[in-house]
Amino acid sequence: MGKFKPATLVCLVAAFLSGNALAGDATAGKAKAATCAGCHGAEGVSGNGLWPNLAGQKEGYLVKQMKDFRDGKRNDPMMSSMAKPLSDDDIANLAAYYSQLK
Ligand code: HEC
Repeated sequence: MGKFKPATLVCLVAAFLSGNALAGDATAGKAKAATCAGCHGAEGVSGNGLWPNLAGQKEGYLVKQMKDFRDGKRNDPMMSSMAKPLSDDDIANLAAYYSQLK
């Protein structure tokens, strides 16, 4: 083995940064959540028996439910149309945001 190569370091840093991005950005999620608040509540606690609370829910569960709605595996007349335009990044960010609320 030769010396430690700068290129290796660049790869490691890039992997670290992209890994972080995948974990979801709660601040970006909060901005996106403005359209969800009408049903799921400003703090993720719904004011109606038909709409589930999202605050404090497990991040991985939220990601799965939003993808299931978006991809048609789970269907609801209200929620499916809300999930349709969400990208994987939007979903990760929204899940990060709602899971850290109490
Ligand atoms: C028009 C009302 C409405 C809006 C707006 C809305 N939702 Fe929902 N959402 C619902 C309903 C109703 C359900 C429950 C559907 C069911 O019973 O299957 C739901 C379910 C969910 C679930 C699954 C919860 C669980 O415990 O299984 C998630 C996650 C979710 N919504 C996220 C969002 C996000 C993120 C947004 C904003 C992009 C949003 N919703 C906007 C009505 C809404």
